[in-house]
Amino acid sequence: MSSVQDYIDANREEFQSQLFELLRIPSVSTDSKHKGDVKQAADYLVSQLHEIGLDNVQLHETPGHPIITAEHTPNKDQPTVLIYGHYDVQPSDPDELWDTPPFEPTVKNGRVYARGASDDKGQSFTHIKSIESYLKTETKLPVNVKFILEGEEEIGSPNLVPFIKENKDLLSCDMVLISDTAMFGEDQPSITYGLRGLAYMEINVTGPNRDLHSGLYGGAVDNPANVLCEIIAKLKDDDGAIQIPGFYDDVEEMTSEMREAYKKLPFDEDRYKKNLELKEVKGEKGYSTLERASARPTLDVNGLWSGYQGEGAKTVLPAKAGAKVSMRLVPDQDPKKIGQLFKKHIESIAPDTVDVEVTEHHGGHPVVIDLEFYGLKAAAKAFSDVYDKEVLFSREGGSIPIVADFKKVLGVNSILMGFGLSRDALHSPNESFSLKDFHRGIQTSARFFEVLPNYVE
Ligand code: BES
Ligand code: MN
Ligand code: MN
Repeated sequence: MSSVQDYIDANREEFQSQLFELLRIPSVSTDSKHKGDVKQAADYLVSQLHEIGLDNVQLHETPGHPIITAEHTPNKDQPTVLIYGHYDVQPSDPDELWDTPPFEPTVKNGRVYARGASDDKGQSFTHIKSIESYLKTETKLPVNVKFILEGEEEIGSPNLVPFIKENKDLLSCDMVLISDTAMFGEDQPSITYGLRGLAYMEINVTGPNRDLHSGLYGGAVDNPANVLCEIIAKLKDDDGAIQIPGFYDDVEEMTSEMREAYKKLPFDEDRYKKNLELKEVKGEKGYSTLERASARPTLDVNGLWSGYQGEGAKTVLPAKAGAKVSMRLVPDQDPKKIGQLFKKHIESIAPDTVDVEVTEHHGGHPVVIDLEFYGLKAAAKAFSDVYDKEVLFSREGGSIPIVADFKKVLGVNSILMGFGLSRDALHSPNESFSLKDFHRGIQTSARFFEVLPNYVE
C-alpha cells in the first residue's frame, strides 16, 4: 500500500495536469452545439482507462451521449465496486460573470477554477487515478472494480437507465461508489446517505394572438404574465407549505432520531447567511434550515419569462408567459405521480381567459441509504484515515437520479463519497475544486479499496 500512496504523492502534478486537460473540453450535454466536445471528453477518458491498464474498456454509443465502461476484476472472492461518474457539465453561462474563462482551468489559492472542476470531472477523476496507482505500481488491487461513466447526468440520464437494464451482467457488482456530492465543511469528511428526487415541469400561458399595446388593451384583456404570477403565487401558503392536493401524501416524516441527528451536525446558520449575503433564511414552517434543504420537499421557480426584457420601458401586454418549476422530492414521493398532481392542480386553478399548458421535463427518484451497509463503514474508515477526522453522515438536497435505479435495477447500494464543498459553486460562474481535496480524494479512494475486504459481512 505504501507504494500506492507514494505513487499518488509522486504524481500529484501529473494527475492535476491530466485533469486540466479534461477540464479544457467543453462537454456541455444540454447544448447540441457541444455534441462533438462531449464525444471528445468521452474519448479522452477512454484513452485514460486504456492507459492505466483496465480491461474491457468500451465506449457505448447511445441516442444521446456515449456511456463508457471498463473493469479490473482480479479477485473472484472479493466484492466488486462499480465506480460511477459523469463527464458532462452544465453550461457555463452567464459567461461574463466568470473571472477566468470557464474552459481554461486556472489555479488560484490552491483551487482550480473551471466548469466541471468539482461537478463532476475533478471528483470522478480521483478514482481513475487511484486505480492507476494500484495498476502502475503492480500492487494487487484487494477488490474488483468496474467503471461506468456517463455524459448525460446533467440532463437527467435519459439513456443510462435503459443501458443498465440491458447490461446487468456487465455491471454486476456489490456496491456503487460515487464522488459527486459535497462534504459538510472544509476538512470535514462526510458521507451523504440521502439525496432528493426531482420533478421538473414547465408552464406555458398563452393569451391574445399577438403582443398588445398595454394602454389600448390593458384592463380589458387578461395578461398572461399576470396570470402566471397568480398561479405561481398560489402554489405555496404563507408558511411555505406546498398547496398541491396530495403533494405530501407519500412524504416520509422524519423520526425524532433523525431530527436529533440533524441537530448534532455542526451547521453554522450565521455563516451560511453570510456566505450567501442573505438577509434571512426562509422555508417551510417548523423545520430547520438543514432539514428544509435536504429532508423536506420543495417547489421552486427555476426560470420565468414574459414581456419586455430590454433596456428602458416598453408598454406592452405580452401574448405569452412561461415558467420552469422544479420540485425536489423526498422518500417516498414518486416523480411521475407528483408531476401529474402538479399538472392537474395548475389546470384546475387556471382561469379560462387564457390557455395554460403544463409539460414535464426529466425527473428522478429520491434515495436514502441504509447506514448499516458495510460499504459505508469501509468508506467512513478510509475517509477518516486520510482526513484524520471522524466522518459525518448527512443527507443532501441535490439529486443524482441514477442512484435510485442502481438500487432498483442492480439491487445495490451506493456510497456517496463526495470530495466537494458548498463553496465549489456547482452550476454557477467560477466553479472550482480544491486541489488538496483532489489529492486527498485519490488517497481516500485508494485507501477504501484497501480496507473494504475487512468490512465484508
Ligand atoms: N452532482 C450534482 C448533484 C449534487 C451536488 C448532489 C451536490 C449533492 C450535492 C449533479 O450533477 C446534479 O447537478 N444533479 C442535478 C439533477 C439532474 C437531473 C439535472 C440536480 O441536482 O439538479
Ligand atoms: Mn454531478
Ligand atoms: Mn450537476
